Amino acid sequence: MKKLLLLNANQNLEHSRTYYLTKKVIEKYELDKKYDIKEINLYDLNLNYLDEEKIIERNELVFQRKFDDKMFDLAKEVKDADFIIVSAPMFDMSYPAVLKVFIENVSVSNLLFTYDGKEIKGLCKAEKLLYVTTRGWGIKNRDDYGYKNIVQVANMWGINNTKLIGVSKTDLAKRPFRDIDDFVSKLGSLDEE
Ligand SMILES: Cc1cc2nc3c(=O)[nH]c(=O)nc-3n(C[C@H](O)[C@H](O)[C@H](O)COP(=O)(O)O)c2cc1C
Repeated sequence: MKKLLLLNANQNLEHSRTYYLTKKVIEKYELDKKYDIKEINLYDLNLNYLDEEKIIERNELVFQRKFDDKMFDLAKEVKDADFIIVSAPMFDMSYPAVLKVFIENVSVSNLLFTYDGKEIKGLCKAEKLLYVTTRGWGIKNRDDYGYKNIVQVANMWGINNTKLIGVSKTDLAKRPFRDIDDFVSKLGSLDEE
């Protein structure tokens, strides 16, 4: 069965509207029937941002092509997934720091992408990356710079088919979960723009 990697950048999952939306989207498109889903809770990983020491250590391993080091295990999960869902609320006009730290840790050159001085070539096999988000205020999809960044990251990894599913005004809604249900019931095909 094909592999779906769910990158969960949500906290307080029982009350998270982003996580709820993500689960509803998975249900609507029957992704759980089409894919073997592996969920990674990014907050549980307790990853650190890359400091100088870590960068030197990683560069050395990359130079020696020692990709069997456990430092690269998460990157390999990303590389081998057939479908990736990134589930993250809007934080400070972007996404939570935990997601940025994850990206830093997995975006390993010669594993997820190569750069020959002219062009970047992605090495990931995923056919699609879906970004699922909620935002407290009335920010529109077209102004979601968190998603715009993720599109660039996905392109770097070699994934050119990306899609955004976003719900705004969650902090203004009286019944945000019911609004999400209504929103999901009106969603079209996963392949349409
Ligand atoms: C630290 C923090 C920063 C936030 N920044 C924004 C923001 O820049 N724009 C916005 O529309 N909402 C912002 N919000 C509101 C959240 O995006 C909104 O409540 C979202 O639905 C939370 O999702 P959740 O219920 O899954 O946690 C912020 C919330 C927090 C906690």
